[in-house]
Amino acid sequence: MSPRLPGHRLAVVGGGVMGTNITALALGHGVPVVLVDVSEEVLAEAARTVAFKLRHAQLMGRLPAGRDVPKLVTGVSLTAAADATTVIEAVTELPETKTKVLAEVSAIVRPGTLLISNTSCIPIDEMASSVARPEELVGVHFMNPAYMIEMVEVIRGPRTGAAAMTAVTGLLTALGRTCLVVNDAPGFVINRVLHPLINSAARLVQDGVAPVEVVDGLLEGCLGHATGPLRTADLIGLDNLVDSLNVLHARTGDPGARPCDLLLDLVRAGKFGRKSGQGFYDYAEVTS
Ligand SMILES: NC(=O)c1ccc[n+]([C@@H]2O[C@H](COP(=O)([O-])OP(=O)(O)OC[C@H]3O[C@@H](n4cnc5c(N)ncnc54)[C@H](O)[C@@H]3O)[C@@H](O)[C@H]2O)c1
Repeated sequence: MSPRLPGHRLAVVGGGVMGTNITALALGHGVPVVLVDVSEEVLAEAARTVAFKLRHAQLMGRLPAGRDVPKLVTGVSLTAAADATTVIEAVTELPETKTKVLAEVSAIVRPGTLLISNTSCIPIDEMASSVARPEELVGVHFMNPAYMIEMVEVIRGPRTGAAAMTAVTGLLTALGRTCLVVNDAPGFVINRVLHPLINSAARLVQDGVAPVEVVDGLLEGCLGHATGPLRTADLIGLDNLVDSLNVLHARTGDPGARPCDLLLDLVRAGKFGRKSGQGFYDYAEVTS
């Protein structure tokens, strides 16, 4: 067994879909993680999900062999992040929630600690004003599932410093990720393209142009989309998708980014996709 990677100590804030993805990725690469969320109940469920995702990643051969997997540490207070070398914020896609978390984290950690936001759509510079040292904040848009997709989108905010860019590259390399760097903008590259596409696909279903399976089937079979936009939406989480579209719409004015009624209705009905068991598709049989 090889020892833990020296140097990196991660704190992940938010133990939902992405926080558990990122935690499994890091633990599977031998990087210790403290995972922070709002309650012990949420953290207990998150720990179960991390264990499941670790097994999934191992079975799929997506983790390096021979690494010691550190024991997951959890906490309900951000003070648990005080000793981290990097903090990754993966909380709900609401600007006020993220700025509050980032402000509190930056007041707790030592200067020189890398701060990463895993936001889908909020410009990094919008959040940089809330942290003590804006040069330490960088965007990393991990894909879902983070342990399956090697490529990540890294966002260099206008105030992100060179040291933070060096540190983030070092961390992502240690986690076996490949990155492409983009400049700051609402939705960056991926979600400026992907989220309006998903919204358009949902609107076609809403308008009765074609059912869910046909929209996905055409995008898969004719355009080579890996899973179809609506199955992708269920994987993302429809609640998160609506929050992200709202962020995008408010900042770009793009009418294609205004969440369509079908998406809003599904979210109001608690149909969030895979994580709730139902969305565009039914996942009653697919439980972890
Ligand atoms: N779902 C995806 O496919 C995906 C992909 C890339 C990026 N993202 C982004 O990652 C972030 C997290 O998304 P998600 O899908 O994991 O959301 P999620 O709803 O599954 O999880 C969010 C978690 O944040 C926690 N949280 C909220 N406020 C908190 C606080 N103040 N302190 C600690 N924890 C808090 C919640 O309890 C919840 O567990 C969002 O910014 C989202 O846009 C999501």
